[in-house]
Amino acid sequence: MQIIHTIHELREWRKNAGTVAFVPTMGNLHEGHLALVREAKKRAGNVVVSIFVNRLQFGQGEDFDKYPRTLQQDAAKLENEGVAVVFAPDEKELYPNVEQRYNVEPPNLQNELCGKFRPGHFRGVATVVTKLFNIVQPDAACFGKKDYQQLAVIKGLVEDLNINIDIVPVDTGRASDGLALSSRNQYLSEQERAEAPRLYRELRAIADAVRSGNLAYAVLEQTAAQRLGEAGWTVDYIEVRRADDLSVAHAGDKNLVILAAARLGGTRLIDNIEVHLG
Ligand code: PAF
Repeated sequence: MQIIHTIHELREWRKNAGTVAFVPTMGNLHEGHLALVREAKKRAGNVVVSIFVNRLQFGQGEDFDKYPRTLQQDAAKLENEGVAVVFAPDEKELYPNVEQRYNVEPPNLQNELCGKFRPGHFRGVATVVTKLFNIVQPDAACFGKKDYQQLAVIKGLVEDLNINIDIVPVDTGRASDGLALSSRNQYLSEQERAEAPRLYRELRAIADAVRSGNLAYAVLEQTAAQRLGEAGWTVDYIEVRRADDLSVAHAGDKNLVILAAARLGGTRLIDNIEVHLG
């Protein structure tokens, strides 16, 4: 496995590589990331994983500075998975100008759900992912469904900008108690960690109600938010949306996703569950 730090070297490697499946990450890899890598392996002869903590997608007061940087441990895990290349540029390599002059601006979806609470986040994601796509030039790229809105933004990006990359969604990895795997779980205290699976339980409760014919989405959303609030969470949102484009769901829609973001102490957790009605 090669660890490449510059765009030039990566491009040189790419000239002679066959098919490439790409997994963009911010490092601090857990089983959820490794599931993306395993899916990528099925799609192409070579897997490239990028590790880059992207300043552009963090807002003021967010965890950019404290985001764990663990390149050595990450590289060992990726070597084990048979990854061909780890692309780990430093900040100057990807952003040589202090100001990024050109940005990729997602449509209005970027201001909804998580975007409402993290202004500029999806512009930062779309911009860095476009740069990484242009550098790595993969045939396919894997994204976790845990970041469902991010996946929707990326799908829209490749469609609207005619980027010829197959976007592969990968199911959310979960701990045995249901908590979605996330690098941010390590910020939780022991007590918070024990409480954290409640988020997924509430999503499942809504999913079960919808499956059994309860289509009063607003009531279901409010009840779940209230219960989380009573258990000490600060709820950013909990909403039933259409799975394909994340537009507002209406009774009669068959393919839905229930998404939530809520904070436990200082840690913001997100999760979602898809519901496909027959
Ligand atoms: O999902 C992530 O880890 C990041 O948002 C991504 C896609 C690597 C872009 O920085």
